[in-house]
Amino acid sequence: MTTDRASNGGSMPRRRGKRAASPSPSAASSAGPLPYDDAEAASLANLLLSWYDRHRRHLPWRSAPGERPDPYRVWLSEIMLQQTTVATVRDYFLHFTSRWPTVADLATAPLDDVLAAWAGLGYYARARNLHKCAQAVMRDFGGVFPSNLDALRSLPGIGDYTSGAIAAIAFDQPYAAVDGNVERVMARMFAVEEPLPDSKPRLKQLASGLVPKRRPGDFAQAMMDLGATICAPRKANCLICPWNGHCRGRALGIAETLPRKREKAARPVRRAVAFLAIRRDGAILLRRRPERGLLGGMLEVPSTPWERSDATPAASVTESHAPLPAPWTPLAGTVEHTFTHFHLIVEVHTAHGLDDIPLEDPAARWVPLDDLPTEALPTVMHKIIAHGLKL
Ligand code: ADE
Repeated sequence: MTTDRASNGGSMPRRRGKRAASPSPSAASSAGPLPYDDAEAASLANLLLSWYDRHRRHLPWRSAPGERPDPYRVWLSEIMLQQTTVATVRDYFLHFTSRWPTVADLATAPLDDVLAAWAGLGYYARARNLHKCAQAVMRDFGGVFPSNLDALRSLPGIGDYTSGAIAAIAFDQPYAAVDGNVERVMARMFAVEEPLPDSKPRLKQLASGLVPKRRPGDFAQAMMDLGATICAPRKANCLICPWNGHCRGRALGIAETLPRKREKAARPVRRAVAFLAIRRDGAILLRRRPERGLLGGMLEVPSTPWERSDATPAASVTESHAPLPAPWTPLAGTVEHTFTHFHLIVEVHTAHGLDDIPLEDPAARWVPLDDLPTEALPTVMHKIIAHGLKL
């Protein structure tokens, strides 16, 4: 890359020379001039990089200073970190990389093994895309991750944010990786009062304009670390922030009120009855969900459809969805699980001591409890089983 400063994913006007004098901080809007010039941007980048050299987090997917990053590890970590915390991802990352140390290993692994290893990270479409992407890298790029932003973005599961993050971190290209942490840092630094998500383009523009020519990969990770460890959601630890002398949000005393968020509509509630059938030998009846859609291809405890409702499904509906005839007993209490677009409340009915009767549904099978850890079983199903077995 021969750009003199950050690209911005190709969508923003490039900053040239001195900008208009810093406008009033609260005047920041989703377009318009940047509130800093090249010299100020360079000085902010330097401050942040020297802070990063002293305080960087030691994360298993990070290369040591001076060491060339492995694009496979960078890519894998970025996919795992989409909507999941660093604390959760750590162990999954270590497990995946010891089991599948290279993209070739992952590409040739059975999809079911990958889905099972992913269980608990949520958003299973990501695991399917992860597997598809590994295969596409083998097939279309000879097993070598491309460094070009458009080529990266053409791969399954790699969107705007992830392509920028991989290009920056794995290939040291001048792209910004603007996730929620970085949006918060930008909103506070430049006192952007426009609420999210409307302010996203402006926050990305502000971050992109700061990316230095030198060490853009470290800069991307430094921004993430600043957002995660100093400029935290509820507490902006301004006293120890390397940018505290430059932060408009701090100067105005509004840092911790930013970023503002547009009010969200409440999540709709869906309800269902799940049927936990327990065979005499302790195995439980599970069913594979359809390939497409939510939790596609994962195992589930059979249930009534998850319908939007204020009440548990009626007995007639419940009976017609029981996976096999048995003396079903409703348990007290419910299991609750929140998905991105709805909240699910499940009543669990159990039937114990069942014979090994033949199953009509080809998607259903008996699974010994000892096998559950290696099955592709989503968190909500673990909760239902734990409730049903009173674990
Ligand atoms: N969040 C998203 N990507 C990350 C990374 N590479 N390191 C730490 N946190 C992240």
